[in-house]
Amino acid sequence: MKNYITTPIYYVNGEAHIGHAYTTFIADTLARHSRLIGNETYFLTGTDEHGQKIEEAAKKLEKPTQEFADEISATFRNLWDEFDISYDQFIRTTDETHKKGVQAAFLKMHENGDIYKDFYEGNYCVSCESFFPESQLMDGGGCPDCGRATTIVKEESYFFRLSKYEKPLLEYYEAHPEFILPKSRRNEVISFVKGGLNDLSVTRTSFSWGVHLPESLNEPKHVMYVWLDALMNYVTALGYGSDEAKMDFWPANVQLVGKDILRFHAIYWPAFLMSLGLPLPKHIGAHGWWTRDGEKMSKSKGNVVDPREVSKHYGVENFRYFMMREVPFGQDGDFSQRALIDRMNSDLSNDLGNLLNRIIGMSEKYSDFVIDSINVEKYHSKELDDAHTILSSLENYLGELQLHRYLEELWKVFTIGNKAIEEHAPWVKIKEGRNDEALATVALVANLLAKASVMLHSIMPSTTATIADALGFEITTESYTKLILNKGLLDTFTIKKIPPLFPRVDEPLMQEAPKAMIEEAPKVEHPVLEDKKESTVSLEGLITIDQFFQTSLKIGTVLNAQEVPKSSKLLKLQVDLGEDSPRQIIAGIREYYSAESLIGTQVCVVANLKPAKLMGMLSEGMILAAKDADGLCLIRPEKTRLSGSSVG
Ligand code: MSP
Repeated sequence: MKNYITTPIYYVNGEAHIGHAYTTFIADTLARHSRLIGNETYFLTGTDEHGQKIEEAAKKLEKPTQEFADEISATFRNLWDEFDISYDQFIRTTDETHKKGVQAAFLKMHENGDIYKDFYEGNYCVSCESFFPESQLMDGGGCPDCGRATTIVKEESYFFRLSKYEKPLLEYYEAHPEFILPKSRRNEVISFVKGGLNDLSVTRTSFSWGVHLPESLNEPKHVMYVWLDALMNYVTALGYGSDEAKMDFWPANVQLVGKDILRFHAIYWPAFLMSLGLPLPKHIGAHGWWTRDGEKMSKSKGNVVDPREVSKHYGVENFRYFMMREVPFGQDGDFSQRALIDRMNSDLSNDLGNLLNRIIGMSEKYSDFVIDSINVEKYHSKELDDAHTILSSLENYLGELQLHRYLEELWKVFTIGNKAIEEHAPWVKIKEGRNDEALATVALVANLLAKASVMLHSIMPSTTATIADALGFEITTESYTKLILNKGLLDTFTIKKIPPLFPRVDEPLMQEAPKAMIEEAPKVEHPVLEDKKESTVSLEGLITIDQFFQTSLKIGTVLNAQEVPKSSKLLKLQVDLGEDSPRQIIAGIREYYSAESLIGTQVCVVANLKPAKLMGMLSEGMILAAKDADGLCLIRPEKTRLSGSSVG
């Protein structure tokens, strides 16, 4: 089967943010899955480079428009390459073949009577590249989509007979309830169309940065309306109007868009296609918008999340997993480091990572790393059946773009594995000499991990490749067929001892302040380091290393902190040193730290001091701090460490 998947093409007036990354991650996941199950797949992404908005952005920077577009387009492409996005083509609307294709489409629509010339007068929003009727404008004339001021534009224009397609579109939506996904968005589109469609102005004479009309029309003043130009990319990428070799990928299976551009894709785009006599895509999938810490992202607020930063600190695949697991497709989602960390710790580290670590550890102890599936069916057919039922239901969720449900269900396979270990306690069976049973449980879990990794592959390609490698197989269409479709088991293999894949994250790894506020570290000239031959340190008062180690220094986590009544200097802290109960430490730091600001932070504690009493309260340790004329600061580990880790 041929499967064509597209993302919107991104405007080149700014760099990619997490909204762009989100669409691209979903499309990449669908494309990877499609290839895995053996479909001939074509995945398209790219950049939308024409229009007044881009022309103005380039002007502001005093750059030639093409040069500006080249630069920003490259930042998108580079980012997708860094993220290992498996696109088959990166289209740019400034590509010559694209322009040729758009002209061919325009001519065809013109020839069949769907395009005519008239005058247009209306309220135009440059930012949204859209005209709006008076009735839709905000009070004061602002754009109903972005709120920016609109301007009245009167110009000669060619029009597309959109009104002619009102009825055919409504009939199409009726006959194809799965055309718009999620289905909840369908009604919104239907009522818009039922409200009446005006013909659409599809050329402009007010700017020149766009695709020119076909030469045969002899209209040098006119350039194509950017949405007509942009939407056509989905077929010009396959060669429409030039070399049509790949047109057999059309119609697309899934075209992903954000909810703000659904109207263009669910109304204009199918109308253009009908006019061209081309079939309509099977699904237009509209996702919701991402906010940051509950707020809309905007450049002026400086709170736009940079996907490269997130990936640098948390890993691109963890980030990908988070975005797809966190939000039901179609709904808005909120990005916060806390939510990302919680998902990483609970889903990836606890559920998946621990399961893998446990079977590596057990097989090391019980069978010198060798895992054999021979007795799995005998002792664990129930668990296998349950897992297969889950695994074979997953495809349905993907078909409806319900990736969060897909992952939620997939995670139940890990629950089966974790439960099997608890219930069958292989360590007890080994002690009782029931080795076959113990090894069957380990092998069951290895098989569950293998199967789940195959189905997680399209979301976390490289992580799952590492898991598969540890489990002695490779994720391919063949292993998908064997382990998922045919419900087969792994051949005997030697499991690899790999380091934990998902170390726990304890606190935010990314700077929260807007980028502009982060001070650049001052540049320091480094003197040449010469080898020092003789010590210049005074010997007076020196101790030996053994004496130093008599002091036990430990990392502690402050669980609670309170002000000591009637004391302006003291705080009473409860500090976890990894012992049975936390220590109470009285510290003279109140002038420099508030009690609240300390809770949850880590400190360095002298842990083997004799307990003392301060203002009648027991103190079971001392916190290290440094003081100079500017004040006092606590000595803390540079990265979070386990409570009780020794310092030295
Ligand atoms: N160039 C047009 C698309 C033309 S497709 C023929 C465009 N470009 S865009 O760069 O402004 O937006 C691209 C996509 O990013 C849209 O699908 C939009 O919904 C999405 N997002 C922009 N901001 C977003 C969030 N904050 N969250 C999620 N997606 C967001 O529109």
